[in-house]
Amino acid sequence: MRRSILLGLGSYVPDRVVTNEEIPYLDERHERRAEVQTETSDAWIRTRTGVEARRYVPAGGSMACSDLALEASRRAIADASIEAREIDCIIYATLSPDIHFPGTAVFLQSKLGISGEEGCACYDIRQQCSGFVYGLQMADALVRTGTYRRVLLVGAELHSHSLDYSTRGRDVMVLFGDGAGAVVIGPSETDDERAGVLYTRVGADGTGAWDLYLKVFEISKAPYVWYDAADREQNLVKYPQMNGKRVFLHAVRHMVLASQRALSETGLGWNDIDWFVPHQANLRINEAVTQYAEIPPEKVLNSIQLYGNTTAASVPLTLDHWRREGKVREHDRVLATVFGSGYTWGAAIFQI
Ligand code: ACO
Repeated sequence: MRRSILLGLGSYVPDRVVTNEEIPYLDERHERRAEVQTETSDAWIRTRTGVEARRYVPAGGSMACSDLALEASRRAIADASIEAREIDCIIYATLSPDIHFPGTAVFLQSKLGISGEEGCACYDIRQQCSGFVYGLQMADALVRTGTYRRVLLVGAELHSHSLDYSTRGRDVMVLFGDGAGAVVIGPSETDDERAGVLYTRVGADGTGAWDLYLKVFEISKAPYVWYDAADREQNLVKYPQMNGKRVFLHAVRHMVLASQRALSETGLGWNDIDWFVPHQANLRINEAVTQYAEIPPEKVLNSIQLYGNTTAASVPLTLDHWRREGKVREHDRVLATVFGSGYTWGAAIFQI
């Protein structure tokens, strides 16, 4: 029976480390000023979110989201011991695409040097923090049906250019960081029903859409971009807007339910799972999920302290971080749970 397995894993974060101490001094190009720009503090950020630092790309325009994805993809492709030209499908999950259209997967394809008349399939998916699990479900189905043999699934985010570095935007701004994570998925002929990607399930509830969104434009209007982007008083539309308390409660609820359902639908217990990898939105969310879903705390992997919330990148980035630290090993079984803007959510069980 054909199953899909993870052939390779890789991640990338930019070099610049931005600590909580530095955050109050950043201007709107996230350059450090002598005077305070935003009223916030290390104590507030650490206590409410668990974030201690995050990574940012340079402000000068030298890096796009697809460049972050490129580095993570190269590492995943090398880890899979294949050549980039063997990739026959790219699934790119992001909420921070390079431009409005075309989607960012085609830019990544070109940067990987595999575009052209025989170029592979390129999908962009838009499920924000749930993008990795949504993409894994797609990749698993495409590989199982024999449609593709080497699917590159990448989650990449460049948040630092679209954050409001003023007191007005501090609730959202302190949470996010830049980064990318990627996996290569391919087929394996095996009778082992527990091998590879064992389970994926995703869902959404559109009534939560306006609890976390970023407009930038409204296509129903003409002109559909109508603000002065440089005018802080009227440019709210270019920054994410969030009802943090509602998002927090729904994130806990859906990640608990999705995790419990993943176990009940597969008949597995925590003895069968090596690691629980929740989306990295807020350490307090993950602590609550761990408590309510009765997850053994020693099996929980977090990385938000170092990288902040990297949205679609957070699950593969966390896994790769802990693999490099020697904690996660080949063939370990992971239960990943995600929740994001939409609302969207999902859970997956798979082997590394
Ligand atoms: N620094 C200092 N003070 C702040 C900051 C900050 N960065 N942000 C907000 N505050 C202030 C508020 O203004 C408020 O002050 P007031 O009492 O004088 O009015 C006070 O702190 C409390 O604010 P709350 O919004 O009530 O704080 P809360 O405890 O809800 O924490 C937080 C805010 C951390 C954003 C929390 O709601 C949260 O994490 N929500 C979930 C966010 C999330 O996970 N988002 C990502 C989802 S996934 C995706 O798809 C992107």
